Amino acid sequence: MVWADHGGEGLQQVMLDGEQLGVYAPTMMPNRRMTRDCLTIVVCVSVAYWCVHLFFQTTLSCTPQRSRIFDSEAGNIDVSSYQDSGAITQHKHSMSLSTSRPLQECFKEVKHVMFLKMHKAGSSTMQNIFLRFALARDLNVVLLNSFKGSFHIIGRNVVKDRIIPIPKNQSYNILCNHIVYNRNELTKIMPGYAMNITIVREPTTHFLSSSLYFGFFNNLKRIAKPNNDWEKTEEFLILDYIKNPGKYKNVGTMLVHNLQSLDLGLNAPDFFNRKKIDDIIKIVDEDFQLVMVMEYFDESLILMIRYLCWDLKDVIYVPNNAGKSQVNITENPYIVSWLHQWNRADYMLYAHFQKKFWRHVHAEGVEFFLEVQYFKIIVQNVWNFCLNVNRKEIQIEESRWNKAFRLNKYDCQYILLDERSFVKIMMDKAARKVNITLPNV
Ligand SMILES: *[C@@H]1O[C@H](CO)[C@@H](O)[C@H](O)[C@H]1NC(C)=O
Ligand SMILES: *[C@@H]1O[C@H](CO)[C@@H](O)[C@H](O)[C@H]1NC(C)=O
Ligand SMILES: *[C@@H]1O[C@H](CO)[C@@H](O)[C@H](O)[C@H]1NC(C)=O
Ligand SMILES: *[C@@H]1O[C@H](CO)[C@@H](O)[C@H](O)[C@H]1NC(C)=O
Repeated sequence: MVWADHGGEGLQQVMLDGEQLGVYAPTMMPNRRMTRDCLTIVVCVSVAYWCVHLFFQTTLSCTPQRSRIFDSEAGNIDVSSYQDSGAITQHKHSMSLSTSRPLQECFKEVKHVMFLKMHKAGSSTMQNIFLRFALARDLNVVLLNSFKGSFHIIGRNVVKDRIIPIPKNQSYNILCNHIVYNRNELTKIMPGYAMNITIVREPTTHFLSSSLYFGFFNNLKRIAKPNNDWEKTEEFLILDYIKNPGKYKNVGTMLVHNLQSLDLGLNAPDFFNRKKIDDIIKIVDEDFQLVMVMEYFDESLILMIRYLCWDLKDVIYVPNNAGKSQVNITENPYIVSWLHQWNRADYMLYAHFQKKFWRHVHAEGVEFFLEVQYFKIIVQNVWNFCLNVNRKEIQIEESRWNKAFRLNKYDCQYILLDERSFVKIMMDKAARKVNITLPNV
C-alpha cells in the first residue's frame, strides 16, 4: 500500500497494487496524522517481523490466530483460498499467516450483545451499528415500552416491566440503551452468554463534551452573571466554579461528574473512595469482554468484529451526534489538574481500560493495523457515497478481511438515521412481534 502525499493541495492518494483506492483531502481525514503514524508503525513492524520470520522460518508455526473468546474446536482451515485473494498482495510473502485472521476462522457471528451505551463517548454511533445489525437479522432488542419521560433506560435498574416483551422461547439479543450497569438486574434480561461491550473516552475531553451538551456551562453562566467577554468563557466559568464552590452549590453536576464511572455503576457518594473505584474497575474487567476506546474508534471496531465474528460491513458508520467543541479549557493546566482530582474515578477507569485495550490490540498481531487502514478507506468511501454522491449503489470488493458487498441509498438512510427515529422504528417492530400496542408517542 502506497500513500502519496501531494503536498501542495494536501491531497493524499492511497494506492494498492498500483490501483488507486482513494484520494483524500485533509479535511476529509480527521485522523490523518494518526493514520500516517499508524502506517509507519505497520511498515516498520512488518519489516522487523519479516526479518525475524526469515530467521525462525522453520520454528514458527502457521497456526492462524483465532478469536480468544470464541475458541470453538479448531477445524482444518484452508489457507490457500485467502492467501491468493489477499488484498495486500505485496505483503503476502513478508506477512506470516500466523498473524492473519482468515475469514474461515469465524464460525458463527455473535448475536447476543449487551452494549452499555456510555454517555458522550461515541455511543450513538455504536447504537446505530447495533440497531442495524438487529434489524437486518430480525433480532430481539431490549427497548422501553414507552417514550414517556425519556427514551433512555436511566436509573439503577433495567426494569423488566418497562421493556417490550419478546415471544416465548426467545431471548433478547441486543441491548444498546443508556443504562447504569447492574449485574443482578441485567442477568434477569440478557442471557448469561451475551457478550458485554462498552466504550471509554479520555476524561478531560469527555468532561468538556458533557458540560457543553448537558448545559453545565450555561448553568454556571446564569449564576456568574458575566460582566465582560472573558467572564463568559468556559475557562473563566470553570475557574470561578473551582474557586467558589459555595456560590455554585445549587448547580447540578450529575452529568459532568465522573459520568463514565457512574454509567458503570459507581455511586456518587463513592466518587472519592479508592476501594469502591477499584471494585467497579474489577467488575467491569470481569464482566466486559471488550472496553473500546473512543480515541481509537476504528481500532475498537476492528477489535469488536474480530471478537464478535462480524463482518466489516456490519460496522460501517458515519459519525453521529458528534458535537465538535472549540473550547480549549483542556489546555489550562490548573483546570486539568483540578479535573484529575474531581473526576479521579474516570481517570482511573480510563487509564486501566486504555492499557487493557492496547494489550488486546497487540495480541491481534501485525495485520490488525492493516485491517484498520483498510477499514478507514472503506468507511471514507461509504461516507462519500452516503453524504453527497449521486450514485445509486456502492460496491466494495472482497478483500482478505471482508466478503464483497453493496450498499445503496436505503442502507445510507439507516446509517444516517437519528437515534430517536431509529429507536421508534425498532419499538414498533418489536411491539408488532408480540402483538401489543404501544401508547402513542
Ligand atoms: C418452548 O420450548 C419447549 C421445549 O422446546 C416446548 O415444549 C414448548 O412448547 C415451547 N413453547 C412455546 C410457547 O413455543
Ligand atoms: C455479561 O454480563 C452479565 C451480567 O451483567 C453476565 O451475566 C454475563 O455472563 C456477562 N457475559 C459474559 C460473556 O461474561
Ligand atoms: C484558548 O484559545 C484562545 C484563542 O485561540 C487563546 O487566546 C487562549 O490563550 C487559549 N487558552 C488556553 C488556556 O490555551
Ligand atoms: C392480536 O391481538 C388482538 C387484540 O387482542 C387480537 O384480536 C388478535 O387476534 C391478535 N393477533 C394475533 C396474531 O395474535
